[in-house]
Amino acid sequence: MIDTDNNQVTTYLQLVGCFAIEGSPVSITPFGSGHINDTYKILTDSPDGPNYMLQRINNNVFKNVDHLMENIDKVCNHIKNKLKSEGVSALEDHVLTPIPTKNGALYHKDEQDNYWRIFVLIEGTKTYDIVETTQQAKEGGRAFGKFQAMLADLNPLDIHEVIPSFLHIGSRLRHFKQAIEQDAAGRVNELKEETTFILERENKMNTVLGMAAKSQIPLRITHNDTKFNNVLLNRDDRAQCVIDLDTVMPGYVAYDFGDAIRTIINTAAEDEADTRKVLLNIPLFEAYTKGYLESAHHFLYPMEVTSLVDGVLLLPYMQMVRFLTDYLSGDTYYKINHPKHNLQRTKAQMKLVQEIEKHESLLRNIVRKEADTYQT
Ligand SMILES: Nc1ncnc2c1ncn2[C@@H]1O[C@H](COP(=O)(O)OP(=O)(O)O)[C@@H](O)[C@H]1O
Ligand SMILES: [Mg+2]
Repeated sequence: MIDTDNNQVTTYLQLVGCFAIEGSPVSITPFGSGHINDTYKILTDSPDGPNYMLQRINNNVFKNVDHLMENIDKVCNHIKNKLKSEGVSALEDHVLTPIPTKNGALYHKDEQDNYWRIFVLIEGTKTYDIVETTQQAKEGGRAFGKFQAMLADLNPLDIHEVIPSFLHIGSRLRHFKQAIEQDAAGRVNELKEETTFILERENKMNTVLGMAAKSQIPLRITHNDTKFNNVLLNRDDRAQCVIDLDTVMPGYVAYDFGDAIRTIINTAAEDEADTRKVLLNIPLFEAYTKGYLESAHHFLYPMEVTSLVDGVLLLPYMQMVRFLTDYLSGDTYYKINHPKHNLQRTKAQMKLVQEIEKHESLLRNIVRKEADTYQT
């Protein structure tokens, strides 16, 4: 049980009892390494039925839980139908299955205004926080490519924008400029180099939105949190299911590709203090690209393939803008471990952008060469 406090156990059991699960819960334990939601594993007494994941939804980050859960339900049903038509059996092992409450709702709101949901537990799977091998990188690429591919025929306008302008660089830069003007923490003067770096690249970083404005790339449904620990792998380390669908929204494929690469390609931590350690792991980039295009080549427009490396430049740049905006505003958004933490993160992302710029033509050649293998 979750702990020795009987009251707490009773509360969780009552909570689980609100959902239309098979059998009765026999144990509840905290689970997973996610940072956004609180996740618990529920085992039941049903010999043939599934076990479950109970999650408390982070209502600070996701203000509209109805929209959030409607998105997840729609996306999961769509993927389930796709997999069924491909002849996949044991569908619940390959796509998240939300369990409704006994009243038919997609979540339960408790007396303290916490929002809860339950998914089927996908047994025998694991996640890794860090990509270490090219095989893992390839599986990550395969998984997110297939995820986008399965959603390519669902209308993005049917999906709610759960966090408005989440990856809109114009909006992020607007907030950045406001933070400079307000200078709430009195830090503007110490940030000339970083500020200039951002402003000099404003036009170049508008490439993806520019392509969209000219209708060269379509709006898609994207995952928007393509970290490797959001892919469940089977015992043989093969991708089995993409999870953590809270941020699924209309977007451009370059965003998902760029954010996955941002974390995979960096040889150092996101907040590395010694920026000399921030270098590129090109073999992991190549492997992710291979896996991604294997799953996605059949639905991508040529300009979307071109846009992938623009996404690789954009996502660390956008992260740098967000860290520096927070530093300028007096550290109100990201948790910090020391007073200069957001500045340190800013510098590490800045170095990553510089490294990517230095290797841009190499990255473009790798994508082009890989995409060319699918030309007939
Ligand atoms: N349906 C599931 N089956 C098995 N494990 C899961 C399932 N959903 C989540 N997990 C595990 O719980 C962890 C946290 O879940 P996730 O939805 O990614 O939350 P967060 O938003 O906090 O990252 C995952 O990294 C994974 O290990
Ligand atoms: Mg997660």
